[in-house]
Amino acid sequence: MTDPIVERISELRKKHNAIILAHNYQRGEIQDVADFVGDSLGLSQQAAKTDADLIVFCGVHFMAETAAMLCPDKTVIMPDENAGCPMAAMITARELREKKKLYPDVTVVCYVNSTAAVKAESDICCTSANATKIVASIPKDREILFVPDKSLGAYVASCLNRKMIFWDGYCPSHHRILSEHVVQLKSEHPDAKIVVHPECTPDVIALADHVASTTGIIKYPGSNHTKEFIVGTEIGILHRLRQTYPDKTFLPATPLSDCPNMKLNTLEKVMWSLEDLQFVVTVPEEIAVKARKTIQQMLDLS
Ligand code: 13P
Ligand code: SF4
Repeated sequence: MTDPIVERISELRKKHNAIILAHNYQRGEIQDVADFVGDSLGLSQQAAKTDADLIVFCGVHFMAETAAMLCPDKTVIMPDENAGCPMAAMITARELREKKKLYPDVTVVCYVNSTAAVKAESDICCTSANATKIVASIPKDREILFVPDKSLGAYVASCLNRKMIFWDGYCPSHHRILSEHVVQLKSEHPDAKIVVHPECTPDVIALADHVASTTGIIKYPGSNHTKEFIVGTEIGILHRLRQTYPDKTFLPATPLSDCPNMKLNTLEKVMWSLEDLQFVVTVPEEIAVKARKTIQQMLDLS
């Protein structure tokens, strides 16, 4: 028997010609009703190409904002308006403008985990899936300021052997993963492969067999015969890993790495958002016009 909430969501989705987009960290039951589950890049690409009239964005605020800017003729709603990203809140547009005064010729690369206003003050955007490619596309003689994630920035800098200036931002959920957690698990499971997100600290990344975006992490077990994986990212990803590879074992580096903001969305709230058509996410046009350019440049390069 189908869950009545799931049934109601299906009815409302049809009625409003809606699409449900869910990030890989969403609760399992939300991922299961979504039309598309993915990483930040995949979700932006889906938003950009959908012909739905309404996008129900199950993720955090900056993701819904990005969708709203890419689809100005569509309505974008979030099931919980309080689902923000603490890392995105670690930099404001005013702080970035002040920093740029100190480095007048700098090229600003902003991680998609940032507000629309910060994107509007930046030159180009990136996600964890394409950050290395985006930075590599910038001429070598240009100085780069990477905001707001210092961990992703340091990872990209080490891949490209390139100096960059970093903002002092970070993801609290990924920084709860300690190298001790990974070392301990690896000693108990010596054959396990270690796969981590680049928002982890450099000492955790140094232990990894593979570093990737959330969708990259989901693809990785498909490309090798290993049966066990130590997973260094937000624990919501385990749902899809276990669903996709039922014969493999996935061990969270630590059960502490959960993102309370991602988990604010629930199946009931998805239904209510479709009933009430809220909470609508909009971006003032004077900001959107500038921020859209930085996102579009990234999409063109991806
Ligand atoms: P992805 O783009 O890899 O899905 O990451 C988004 C995010 O918020 C990670 O914490
Ligand atoms: Fe932000 Fe970290 Fe949550 Fe991702 S996991 S949304 S970076 S706080």
